[in-house]
Amino acid sequence: MNLISDIDGVAHVEGVALPAIAARFGTPCYVYSRAALTAAYDAYAAALAGRDARICYAVKANSNLAILNVFARLGAGFDIVSGGELARVVAAGGDPAKVVFSGVGKTRAEMRQALEAGIYCFNVESASELEHLNTVAGELGKRAPIALRVNPNVDPKTHPYISTGLKSAKFGVAFDAARELYRRARDLPHLEIRGIDCHIGSQLLDPQPAADAAAKVLELVDALAADGIVFSHIDLGGGMGIRYQDENVLSTADYLAPMLGVLKDRKEKLLVEPGRSLVGNAGLLLTRVEVLKHGEEKNFAVVDAAMNDLARPALYDAWHTIRKVGAGDTVATAAQRYEIVGPICESGDFLGHDRELALAEGDLLAILSAGAYGMAMSSNYNTRPRVAEVMVDGAAAHLIRRRETVAELLAPESLLP
Ligand code: LLP
Repeated sequence: MNLISDIDGVAHVEGVALPAIAARFGTPCYVYSRAALTAAYDAYAAALAGRDARICYAVKANSNLAILNVFARLGAGFDIVSGGELARVVAAGGDPAKVVFSGVGKTRAEMRQALEAGIYCFNVESASELEHLNTVAGELGKRAPIALRVNPNVDPKTHPYISTGLKSAKFGVAFDAARELYRRARDLPHLEIRGIDCHIGSQLLDPQPAADAAAKVLELVDALAADGIVFSHIDLGGGMGIRYQDENVLSTADYLAPMLGVLKDRKEKLLVEPGRSLVGNAGLLLTRVEVLKHGEEKNFAVVDAAMNDLARPALYDAWHTIRKVGAGDTVATAAQRYEIVGPICESGDFLGHDRELALAEGDLLAILSAGAYGMAMSSNYNTRPRVAEVMVDGAAAHLIRRRETVAELLAPESLLP
């Protein structure tokens, strides 16, 4: 589904015109569609229908409380990677009993917090973590539910920064060490083995690596059954890619089909941890052209959003489609090639290279596919307050995070005595 539809030449998200959102909430701002979030979730639910499964939304992709709440209302579980994310899930009305906790460096304080909240499972990523967790659970007089995140050494064929399932990655425990570690976990008194987990990477367009990883996980499950270690669930992580430009993207059902084919009718509960594919194409970043600079070599459109608001282009050289919003609000100009850049003082501060657009100062631009890892990775670099977030629901636009103020940015700091 396309996030933007043109109604009488004006770009809308659901029933709300983007220029009206800019006028009411200011720019830059992130705009999300509740219908698009719901449709993305429903596609997973439909693909997994008839199977004992749980969709654990990867909170890191976009942790706004309203977004978590939309998924909680749809029955989602959550994949978290910090105590902060757990606090968000609880504040958003999510059920801790549907939470899995991933991450290579959980602190003892985070383990305590999660045990006290009663999460469903810790995805343990090292031998040390197993021992730490056993100790912390013992101190609380509890048993910690665990899965081991195994590293299947499968190449996910994606950007190296977001590949996690190769031997060289810091994530998970080595495939060959997993059996021994599960035996150790079985012998630790304050742990309860619940499942097995793997996540091989993000923005995966080819479904085969996930299916290969599933096959390797099943190999291990069967080997462990011989040791008397049985699982109530198998967690196959997230990773399904989305279309940013012209990528060949499968539907959710088609992407999951090879993996589900490997699982066939296994009776363990299936967990998945999608992030990007639930929110990525349900959000855009709305920004205004402040300055046009026509140079000898390049033309620059300096907009009011920057790399601190959307880091993906600077960090991964990621492409986000950028389109002009609303016709008729500016004098017609000829299309030219522009570097779409922010006002931050470094050349890495770009949102798009070489985009052909007919622009005038004051124009609104929509930077698409920005719902995932956009706001969540934003910062205050250059003392720029983080932007507002708006959720459209039918004909209504709701402010779900107000713009920060400079005073709020300064508040935690103090001068020397
Ligand atoms: N589960 C685990 C353990 C993860 O590490 C991740 C993402 C997910 C699930 C969700 O993966 P997804 O379905 O979103 O692909 N900032 C990068 C993406 C980092 C992904 C990190 N892990 C980007 O903007 O492309």
